[in-house]
Amino acid sequence: MEFYSEKQQIKLVIDALKAKQLTIGLVPTMGALHDGHLQLVKKALDNNDKVVVSIFVNPTQFDNNDDLEKYPRTLESDMVLLESVSQDRIIVYAPTVKDIYGSNPISESFDFDGLELEMEGKFRDGHFDGVGTIVKRFFEIVKPHNAYFGEKDFQQLQIIKKMVEKLRIPIHVIGCEIHRETNGLAMSSRNTRLKPEYKKAAPFIYKTLTAAKEHFGTKSANKVLEWVEKQFAKHHLLELEYFIIADVKTLKQVKRKSNKKSYRAFIAVYADDIRLIDNIALN
Ligand code: PAJ
Repeated sequence: MEFYSEKQQIKLVIDALKAKQLTIGLVPTMGALHDGHLQLVKKALDNNDKVVVSIFVNPTQFDNNDDLEKYPRTLESDMVLLESVSQDRIIVYAPTVKDIYGSNPISESFDFDGLELEMEGKFRDGHFDGVGTIVKRFFEIVKPHNAYFGEKDFQQLQIIKKMVEKLRIPIHVIGCEIHRETNGLAMSSRNTRLKPEYKKAAPFIYKTLTAAKEHFGTKSANKVLEWVEKQFAKHHLLELEYFIIADVKTLKQVKRKSNKKSYRAFIAVYADDIRLIDNIALN
C-alpha cells in the first residue's frame, strides 16, 4: 500500500494517475479506523480506480483541547485494516499538522447558508469552519473525482455538499449509510474510549431513536421531543445534550410536520465525558 505524508509527494502521484485517465476517490478520516470507515472505503473502491484515504486529526475542528489530545491515534493498526480491504488500490495520505497548516493552524470562515448554525454548530464553536477548511484543502491537494462521507455526521455531509455547490468545486460528494454495531450503537472512533458500563448503556441511544421514529408516525414533533427528553431524564448514565427533529434540507428544527418534507432526528449524548452523536431518517 502506498503511503505519503507530504502534499508535494501525493500531488505528483495524483498527477501521474490522472495522466493515465484513472478515477480517484477520496475518503477523508481522522484515523482510529473502524468498520464504519471501511464501508466508505469499500464503496469508494467499487466506484474508482484508486482510493486516497486521508488520516489526519484536524486541530482546527476541535473546540476542546482535551478532546483533541485524547483523540485516538492508531496509524499502524489503521494501515493493517486498510491492507485487509485492498493491497494495491489504496493510497494513504497522513500529513503532519505543519504540512497542512504551517506553524499556525487556523480556519477559514465559511457561509454554508445557515447549515453551520444548527445542532453541532451550536454546541461546537468553530467546528464547521475547521471541517470546511480541512476538507477544502484535501480537495485541492487530491483533486478526486468522488469524495465519500458518512451519514453518521449528517450535518457535516450536507455542509460539504453545500461547500462544493457554492464554491463550484468539480467533485461528486457521496453520502454513505450509518454503519452500526449489532446492538445498534453507531460505530465511532470514540466508542473505544467508553468505560464498560457506558459501552453497555450506549445502545440506548439508537433504541430511543428507533422508538422516536415510531412515535413520529402518530405524534407531533414536540410530543416526540418531550418523550425522548423524559427517557434520558430517567437514565442514570447517559446525559442528553440535544435531541432535534429537523428538515433534512435546511437542518432547521421542525415546527409543524408537512407531508412534502423529509425529516431526520438528530441526537447528541454524553456518556461520561465522551460525546456521542447519532441520527435517523423519520419518513
Ligand atoms: P471521522 O470522524 O474519522 O469520520 C470520517 C468519515 O467516516 C466521516 O465521513 C464520517 O461520517 C464517516 N463515519 C464515521 N463513522 C461512521 C459510521 N458508523 N457509519 C458511516 N460512516 C461513518 O468526520 C471526520 O472524521 C472529520 O470531520 C473529517 C471529515 C475527516 C474532516 O477532518
